Amino acid sequence: MAAPEPLATGAVQDALVTAGPHASRIADLWWLFFTVCAIVFALVVGAVAIAVARGLRARRRDGDVPLVDEPPARARRIALPIVVSVAASAVTVLALLVASVLTGRALAEVPSKDALSVVVVGHRWWWELTYQDPNPSKRVTTANELHVPVGRTVVLQLESRDVIHSLWIPSLNGKRDLIPGHQTFLTIRADRPGAYRAQCAEFCGYQHANMALWVIAEPPEAFTAWLDGQRQPAAAITDATDARVRRGRDVFLSSPCPMCHTVGGTEALGATGPSLTHLASRATIAAGTLPRTPGHLAAWILDPQTPKPGNAMPPIALTGEDLDALLAYLETLK
Ligand code: CUA
Repeated sequence: MAAPEPLATGAVQDALVTAGPHASRIADLWWLFFTVCAIVFALVVGAVAIAVARGLRARRRDGDVPLVDEPPARARRIALPIVVSVAASAVTVLALLVASVLTGRALAEVPSKDALSVVVVGHRWWWELTYQDPNPSKRVTTANELHVPVGRTVVLQLESRDVIHSLWIPSLNGKRDLIPGHQTFLTIRADRPGAYRAQCAEFCGYQHANMALWVIAEPPEAFTAWLDGQRQPAAAITDATDARVRRGRDVFLSSPCPMCHTVGGTEALGATGPSLTHLASRATIAAGTLPRTPGHLAAWILDPQTPKPGNAMPPIALTGEDLDALLAYLETLK
């Protein structure tokens, strides 16, 4: 499976390529600030140029005359533009402040009751995602790839188990911190399908830059099918299963893997690392930074400290055959 397709425009992570109402409000505000500031900049440069030209001309005509010695009428004429520009600056800054406050208020609107609720927990350095459901057996926990239905509001409940992280999905909304011991919320709504890259935006340690999240917005039916799939335990391994896969399962369960990872339906219940129950349904590994190819997966298992130094996973020593079997088993975790 290939890595998630970047936006159709080719922009992978761009706050000005928006896919939902929240990001659009922010982009509108950005363009307003950009336009106003560009006009002000042009006016200031023009005014300075005119002033310098006039000053040079006056000096050629009259020689150096200190401002205090100017006739009062001329001094007033010089002061007038200063008064006007100070007033204009105050009005402009006030207008930008009002626009900014209005955008903030619009972003803070209480989402509708039928919003989808997902708990997002920041870990060093990956994202744990739990889809809430009144029925606890229907809750789904996955990692690093947030599927959302197009057109539906999603409320992300943000938490952290270690340090402060910050979730930034530029195409969908602004940044929001994940604070240990404190819940924050971020509302998103994707209005067109696509894969939107998100990034931890608060320095949280060595691998901060490699703490990515993919938001995959898909039509409601596709999302429901995905969610139903995620609710299932891992594919059952029976005596009829391919011998290589069975051996891979045994390698998995007899290695240190289950101490940190969960595979639903097996005795692997670790919660330190991402759930692997449906690993093969994800397009990426290593918190959205590497495509989930057999090569990357093998390299990751044998030596996770090379692609992402400092992460919590130790190297796992395996023979070539055991590794091969383990990869075959992991591939069944769809
Ligand atoms: Cu998490 Cu930076």
